[in-house]
Amino acid sequence: MIEARQLAKLFGGRAAIEDVSLGVAPGEVVGFLGPNGAGKTTTLRILAGVFPPTSGQALIDGHDVVRAPLAARRRLGYAPERPALHLEMTVAALLDFAAGMKDVGGRRARRAAVEDALGRAALAEVAARRIGTLSKGARQRLGLALALVGDPPALLLDEPTAGLDPEQSADMRRLIRALGTERAVLVSSHALAEVEALCDRVVILHRGRVLSADTPARLAARLRPASRVDVEAAAPADALAAALVDARGGPRRPGHAGERPRALPRRARARARRPRRAGGARHRERLGPPRARPGRGLARGGVPRSSRGGG
Ligand SMILES: Nc1ncnc2c1ncn2[C@@H]1O[C@H](COP(=O)(O)OP(=O)(O)O)[C@@H](O)[C@H]1O
Ligand SMILES: [Mg+2]
Repeated sequence: MIEARQLAKLFGGRAAIEDVSLGVAPGEVVGFLGPNGAGKTTTLRILAGVFPPTSGQALIDGHDVVRAPLAARRRLGYAPERPALHLEMTVAALLDFAAGMKDVGGRRARRAAVEDALGRAALAEVAARRIGTLSKGARQRLGLALALVGDPPALLLDEPTAGLDPEQSADMRRLIRALGTERAVLVSSHALAEVEALCDRVVILHRGRVLSADTPARLAARLRPASRVDVEAAAPADALAAALVDARGGPRRPGHAGERPRALPRRARARARRPRRAGGARHRERLGPPRARPGRGLARGGVPRSSRGGG
């Protein structure tokens, strides 16, 4: 239903995305995960027909978004990261306007489309309110409602939970989950925990390229394989650092692209456990290179190395 084929987009000669391919079937919620700047919004905008790709093809229900934009858009709901909301309008009036833009014909059909979108996005209570008076959560739901007008079978949702508190996020996830029972939903996020709870499948994007696609459970297992160990040792700092670097599986030497440390070898462990002696300096050494902090890297802007490649 939603298909990207080897999409690439250059901005001023710089590639925002390269060779991005993915597909979403009806009844499937797919998470589009990646740190800020990875190219999620660029990909979603191409799929939504906001701008064309530099190369590759985007299809909605088999319709090329560049060659058959009207047919593609009729089947698509797109909730941008920051939807343009006219703060003076009421919720219902904006949805009615959107229904008109989407060629929902006739006053009755328009009203039905508005009611339907209000209901699905849990906005019925605030239908008559001016948008400027809405909470952040309600505004995000209004963005979703705008995408839902006309009941399209394909949905692109760009970070729909950004800026929401945990309760509002959970509400939003429930709504999206419900929408995904029949529709094809592609939802972007920069937090693994977010998509874990929501998606059937996750596509990870990093620096404009797809790193991997898998179920959330399998991805989470791969992204959080190890625990961090803090060790206190009584030894001169230089000697300790040297011992750790020399230990097999120890922290990487600067500039050495070694593999992620697995376990501390017996010798180093014994050394690390030795009781502190009077006069001995006290040091805390974190084992493991700073990049490999499982489970945290992604939300803080990086994808752990272990997730690279593989499929
Ligand atoms: N209109 C634009 N002009 C120039 N560069 C852009 C434009 N839109 C996005 N980029 C660049 O493309 C890259 C991907 O951005 P974006 O798709 O917004 O990532 P994400 O949504 O994953 O945070 C970034 O380096 C960003 O600066
Ligand atoms: Mg974005």
